[in-house]
Amino acid sequence: MVDQFQGLDPAAFRSALAQFPSGVTIVTTRSDEGTLHGFTASSFASLSLDPPLVLVCLDRRADCFPVFMAAKHFVVNIVTDAHAELAIKFATKGENKFAYGSFEFDEAGHPLLSDAAAVIRCELEQAVPGGDHVILIGRVHDARTGSSKPVTWYRGGFLPLGESAA
Ligand SMILES: Cc1cc2nc3c(=O)[nH]c(=O)nc-3n(C[C@H](O)[C@H](O)[C@H](O)COP(=O)(O)O)c2cc1C
Repeated sequence: MVDQFQGLDPAAFRSALAQFPSGVTIVTTRSDEGTLHGFTASSFASLSLDPPLVLVCLDRRADCFPVFMAAKHFVVNIVTDAHAELAIKFATKGENKFAYGSFEFDEAGHPLLSDAAAVIRCELEQAVPGGDHVILIGRVHDARTGSSKPVTWYRGGFLPLGESAA
């Protein structure tokens, strides 16, 4: 078997990654059959302004993986402090995820999280392999900003932004 880590200590790798605070998103889509799917992701990033592109990395082992690979569109919902519990539901396999939280639907039936810090609607432009994940690159069709502050994820926990953050 090939040693993929080539001497790197996996625990040290994870620990170093945990030193990077990120935002938290709930990424959603709708299958052709009309079923709703979603997962919590901290791997979201902006990629390009012109054309407008964003990316999010999806684990190949996720139950929703085949649906996202087949979907033409996905939605990135940037979550707030009030959505912390919901984000854990969306990170839990086998949950009836859409039974929790409040969602609205766009004209194509894609779920948009109500009161999100921002909602970014994308068309799947490319799915690029990246180890045990795939990088979903989305061309942004629509973006809107809410009035609540985003929450951050740091060292395995939610960290609300301080009062000073606008
Ligand atoms: C804060 C947080 C961030 C996460 N970020 C990612 C991510 O960027 N990509 C990913 O594939 N899974 C991520 N996960 C794990 C998935 O949300 C989780 O495995 C989810 O259940 C996968 O979807 P499934 O239920 O369809 O298998 C994250 C979980 C948490 C709690």
